[in-house]
Amino acid sequence: MVGSVGRSLLAAAVLAALAATTSDAQGPGAAADRIELAVDASKPGATIDRNLFGQFAEHLGRGIYEGVWVGPDSPIPNTRGIRNDVVAALKAIKVPNVRWPGGCFADDYHWRKGIGRREAQMNPDWGGVIEPNTFGTHEFMDFIDQIGSRAYLSVNVGSGSPQEAAEWLEYLTAAQPTALQKERAANGHPEPYFIPYLGIGNENWDCGGNMTPEYYLQQLKTFARYSRNFNPSQREGDRRMLKIAVGPGGGGPRWTEWTEVVMKGWKARQWSWDMDGLSLHNYTVVRFPASFKSVGFDEADYARILQATLEMDGLVKTHSAIMDKYDPEKKIALVVDEWGSWYAPLPGSTPGFLAQQNSVRDALIASLNLNIFARYADRVRMANIAQMVNVLQAMILTDKEKMVLTPTYHVFKMYVPFQDATFVPVTFNAGTYTHGTITLPRVDAMAARDASGTVWLALANIDPARPVLFDARLTGITARSATGEILTGPAIDSVNTFGAPDTVSPKPITATVNGDHVSITLAPKSVTVLAVRP
Ligand code: AHR
Repeated sequence: MVGSVGRSLLAAAVLAALAATTSDAQGPGAAADRIELAVDASKPGATIDRNLFGQFAEHLGRGIYEGVWVGPDSPIPNTRGIRNDVVAALKAIKVPNVRWPGGCFADDYHWRKGIGRREAQMNPDWGGVIEPNTFGTHEFMDFIDQIGSRAYLSVNVGSGSPQEAAEWLEYLTAAQPTALQKERAANGHPEPYFIPYLGIGNENWDCGGNMTPEYYLQQLKTFARYSRNFNPSQREGDRRMLKIAVGPGGGGPRWTEWTEVVMKGWKARQWSWDMDGLSLHNYTVVRFPASFKSVGFDEADYARILQATLEMDGLVKTHSAIMDKYDPEKKIALVVDEWGSWYAPLPGSTPGFLAQQNSVRDALIASLNLNIFARYADRVRMANIAQMVNVLQAMILTDKEKMVLTPTYHVFKMYVPFQDATFVPVTFNAGTYTHGTITLPRVDAMAARDASGTVWLALANIDPARPVLFDARLTGITARSATGEILTGPAIDSVNTFGAPDTVSPKPITATVNGDHVSITLAPKSVTVLAVRP
């Protein structure tokens, strides 16, 4: 398959790069080195599913309350309690799906407390605060509508029951006048909701009940059987609700065994249950408890974190290979529904709220991971960065009425053209970036062709000191122009703040087109997306 050819060429490029001259040998301030790319638009690969650009929004810290929900009586401009500035920003990045209500919180969530007369509960996972349940099912679905996205709900397997999950689905989707349909109508929504994605639990190997894979498999069968979608428009075809099983949380034997057990169970399934996806969770953290700083870090931490983020490639490869054994037709998607950087909490922030800043380094993390997902687009068809607002590697930070867009937000915006585009193989010798004992591929590149024939190139230069001259040789497209945006900042740990919101923001850039070559010099520590137009 073209996708796997692209991957093996990339692996070869990385190995060749590791054998090449190190950055230390050339020193900072050296002239831009030339990196040649071969972009072959005549060999289209898999579709880069728009769902790879999904978000995760858990009831955690200031993610939902303050970040999304301020309530209808707030002086902060809002529509039915949902803040307008956040909605407008999210609309602009075309969020394809939002995973909710957790996370670990999903296995503590009881949906009935979040409809009609609300019942407050504890949020024991995240700071032990009171969860008022003001933002419940109807508010989430309203939010999804306002940003033009789709719902990815996770049902409670850890502390819930198949009956509770079944009733939530009936409440959400029944069109006929059952008691639950009437209750939904009385709560303001007579029409059935569209629920395209359903997660069966969350991390049930850990915070979701510390289950063995065999025990979880049995739970999966039962919950998958009874979590029925009654929406008449979702009975079959493209709109059918896809069920996503809990998958591995790493790459060691514990995790490969988990994937084996669930996939083997799926292969031997009987008519009464099925699944469509297997999740993978992987944070860029190095070790727990998270201790790397999100701002004010040095180059050693920069290199170590980028090295950690590149481990995503090996994880995807490992679990894809197991899935291939049981599912060579790739019916089951690998769904990376929690990924992103996880740093030490910001000094002074509430314990358990997972508040962190977001720097130029996070822009590179976003780009490198999205590129990995695109290379495995035949298997990885959905991913959700953790988390959307105010938590971990967020798109948006808020403080009362103030809002700021992070470098990660800008990468997601620059990558919008890749949503549903067709993967195009790129081969290159990445060169190397070395700091101390860490040597990494110096650059990364990914390409795709959209429906209009434009080829989109994503180029990352992780070297913090040396610019790179990219020289792309194109096959399968005659380029007339190549323009785009570059994202960088003054330092590796530059961030956007409420007082200085544009320190790291995209700037227009134009490449030189000469015959079948497109060339451009890109700044150190930068992410660039170019539109190569025929
Ligand atoms: O995203 C924060 C937490 O990380 C999620 O709740 C959990 O699923 C994972 O461990």
